[in-house]
Amino acid sequence: MRIVLLGAPGAGKGTQCKRIVGKYSLAHMSSGDILRQERANGTDLGKEAQGYMDSGALVPDELIVAMMVKAINEGPSEGFILDGFPRTVNQASELDKSLAANGKKIDVVLNLEVNDQIIAERMGGRRSCPKCGAVYHLTNLKPKVDGVCDEDGETLIQRPDDNLDVVKKRLETYHEQTKPVVGYYKKSGVSVHDIDANHGADAVDVVICGILDKISAS
Ligand code: AP5
Repeated sequence: MRIVLLGAPGAGKGTQCKRIVGKYSLAHMSSGDILRQERANGTDLGKEAQGYMDSGALVPDELIVAMMVKAINEGPSEGFILDGFPRTVNQASELDKSLAANGKKIDVVLNLEVNDQIIAERMGGRRSCPKCGAVYHLTNLKPKVDGVCDEDGETLIQRPDDNLDVVKKRLETYHEQTKPVVGYYKKSGVSVHDIDANHGADAVDVVICGILDKISAS
């Protein structure tokens, strides 16, 4: 299964991906995680992306498309879930062209819908592990020991782009440039599922698994 997971920043894309990848044998490809790794490694791409990411703007399409097409082509062939990509109609169209060149296509789009107030609360309380990328929340998803990653004991951090001003900018960017991607997929005939993701992570997980179970069984 080849899946695109859409949703605003902080909608819970990464949280849900981590829950479902094992069950459905999917490779999790997060454009944000790959960019943060490039930054941590001090690559040219990481340096170029830094300013865009820290201000809440999108990294230019040509850089992202090249990065993600490479990750997809080098990844496992059975199936994947794309998290944070595509984020513009142009990225979606370039992805379709690249998959079609290899006789492949996107099978399903999951669109997490969350209102902006809840988004602001989720991002304000998010804490991440700088080493393994595990994601927590100050109230919704606490680690066993405050401020410490359950997986590797690393001290949790707040992402620099989770401060209120940047969150506002990221939400504006989402509404202007990413929301139209939902319409792109609906027009192109891909099966798109709009999911009310204002609820807790367990409830959202149940809805997603219901959709994917049906597709797997068909
Ligand atoms: P990226 O890292 O992709 O950030 P994002 O899309 O803004 O998404 P987030 O990682 O912030 O949120 P999420 O939806 O994964 O939520 P999470 O599960 O963590 O991108 C960062 C930047 O990179 C972009 O701004 C851009 O500059 C650049 N970039 C990336 N891709 C690009 C592209 N394709 N093109 C151009 N530029 C690109 O959850 C958030 C919090 O809420 C957590 O604390 C979690 O515990 C909690 N939570 C999750 N679900 C629930 C729930 N159901 N109930 C309660 N709490 C919940």
